Amino acid sequence: MINQEVYTVITGASKGLGKCLAEDCAGRGRNLILIALPNESVSQTAKYLSNKYKVKALSYETNLKYEENLESLTKWINTNYKIDMLINNAGIGGTNHFGEVKTDYLDTILQLNMKALVLLTHKLLPLLKTQTESYILNIASLAAFGPMPYKTVYPASKAFVSSFSRGLNAELKGSNVSVSVAYPGGMATTPEIIERMNNYSSFVKSTFLSPEKTAEICIRKTLARKTIIVPGLANKLSRFFIAFIPEEIRFTIFRKNLIKEIPIKTA
Ligand SMILES: NC(=O)c1ccc[n+]([C@@H]2O[C@H](COP(=O)([O-])OP(=O)(O)OC[C@H]3O[C@@H](n4cnc5c(N)ncnc54)[C@H](OP(=O)(O)O)[C@@H]3O)[C@@H](O)[C@H]2O)c1
Repeated sequence: MINQEVYTVITGASKGLGKCLAEDCAGRGRNLILIALPNESVSQTAKYLSNKYKVKALSYETNLKYEENLESLTKWINTNYKIDMLINNAGIGGTNHFGEVKTDYLDTILQLNMKALVLLTHKLLPLLKTQTESYILNIASLAAFGPMPYKTVYPASKAFVSSFSRGLNAELKGSNVSVSVAYPGGMATTPEIIERMNNYSSFVKSTFLSPEKTAEICIRKTLARKTIIVPGLANKLSRFFIAFIPEEIRFTIFRKNLIKEIPIKTA
């Protein structure tokens, strides 16, 4: 029997930005279906949020990289629940020499950042259409605004998310479903990112937006049906920088700085 409550589906919701998006939604009284890898962290997040905010919070553990898992997940949701918001947040990246990474690393970025996002949207759109007001929020990155050496595949995948989201929003215009795409800058989420941020000056660090604030802006603007969400002034200025500084100058700056982010091989 279909559960009569309406839910918000969030991928990559166990930690980082996804957990903050889930907490912001719970604070607005939204019931949650939270998805992350099979390691119990997402069930702990669900328990914590349902106790704190008195909302229903379900967890589902799966690797979104695999199409058969997307099939089972969306079948479970379509059969049992009503949803009015889908947040495609799960995504990964990194800084490396392109020629030195394993094929599996590249494949995971492509499958998770692009294919999983598109297929989840495709398989859940009919369900979203059954509600009076529904929302899709896709998490891209400031990196979507321009190519970057040593990150190569990640910005390309986020440019895909950007183009897909804006195209779909235009296609759905006038319907009950809007599509928003967010372009966060660096946030202190993973240990690698936190370590990297510690190398910046106090002034630069002060311009970084927290994942909590980023999440609040993203949800507020998604509910206002804003298509393009660039959270915070520093990120808006970075977007301007990327658009107006000639590419060769940008690449020189990126090459000099991003190479320092490449993990040093220890063995
Ligand atoms: N952090 C930044 O500086 C930054 C900047 C711009 C954009 N973004 C974007 O923001 C989003 C969230 O980033 P974040 O830094 O918050 O990430 P994070 O802290 O690394 O969290 C990633 C989340 O995705 C889940 N996940 C990873 N691989 C998965 C897979 N194959 N299948 C299912 N779930 C998977 C993780 O689950 P487990 O906990 O189970 O591992 C976790 O819940 C990403 O799309 C990222 O590209 C981040």
